[in-house]
Amino acid sequence: MAQITLDIFRFDEATDTVPHRDKVAVNVPPTTTVLDALEAAKAEVDGSISFRRSCRSAICGSCSMNINGVTGLACKTPCNTVMDENGVVSVDPMPNFQPMKDLVVHMDPFWDKYTRLKPYLQPKDKDSDHERERRVDPEDMKKLVQVANCVMCATCYALCPVVSVDPSFAGPAAIAYAYRFIEDVRDDQRGERIAQISDDYLWLCAHCYACSYCPKHVDPHDRIVDVKRAAIKDRVMMNERGPRHALVVNKTIRQTGMLQETEVIQGTVGRFNITGLIKVAPLGLRLASRGKLPPIFMKPIPKVDEIGIIFDALEVPVS
Ligand code: SF4
Ligand code: SF4
Ligand code: FES
Repeated sequence: MAQITLDIFRFDEATDTVPHRDKVAVNVPPTTTVLDALEAAKAEVDGSISFRRSCRSAICGSCSMNINGVTGLACKTPCNTVMDENGVVSVDPMPNFQPMKDLVVHMDPFWDKYTRLKPYLQPKDKDSDHERERRVDPEDMKKLVQVANCVMCATCYALCPVVSVDPSFAGPAAIAYAYRFIEDVRDDQRGERIAQISDDYLWLCAHCYACSYCPKHVDPHDRIVDVKRAAIKDRVMMNERGPRHALVVNKTIRQTGMLQETEVIQGTVGRFNITGLIKVAPLGLRLASRGKLPPIFMKPIPKVDEIGIIFDALEVPVS
């Protein structure tokens, strides 16, 4: 047995205006999970400590919290992997959520974005048209298995820096789950789903990879790339800045081997969007006054054809 001290964020929105912290010591085996250490603290020391949990097996997705500043599932995190040399483990509510009580947060924004997806199959035909269940070719199903493992724990959402600056962004889990239906051969709402998720600021994703840390290995970042590719392939909302920006970046790198920033700005804003171009003009003038205006024409790097071979191999869309 080892003595583990939990340094717990305490706050009750019903009675408190500011949070405080409590240190609670428990005797548990060092390999016990952070969740079981919290259960021991609640059972033996302070019954008012609040946190969500259900399965204790990384299945229900309830126990996501910040553990020593890193978001993850408490039931999947052994204390001896996170405690400091004094046996202390800090636990806090997930960031990007409003605390409700101690480690419990208001999940409504996360669920609202998920619900907007209509996260259920919408096939063209009726169940009654089939004598048995709709069968899917194993090859078609392979694409969906990984993302179907999502347990809606919101760890990725808590880790996303874009959610923290723009709460209207759908967030990684919702986009990954949109992919799950966009690529389902039984579903009949592919176009509507891509349009809806594009409308929920799909293109705001900054590809920082923070959401690649997923306790169920869903890897929502790669699914976001897949949804963006699907949007371009199906030509959905192509007048938006997001897809225009992606395409012009790809185009200039393919043509010159470098990012041709002047071309990227024009292509993103829109070459004939006079109002938009006037808005970015002050930026151009500031850059010019500091001698940092990127060149208007760029000579392709030597062997630029090899860049094209890479683009072809990765099937990068360029128009
Ligand atoms: S994608 Fe991963 S981290 Fe995000 S909600 Fe699903 S299981 Fe949790
Ligand atoms: S890759 Fe995109 S969705 Fe994932 S954390 Fe970064 S900005 Fe958020
Ligand atoms: S208690 Fe269910 S995922 Fe942790």
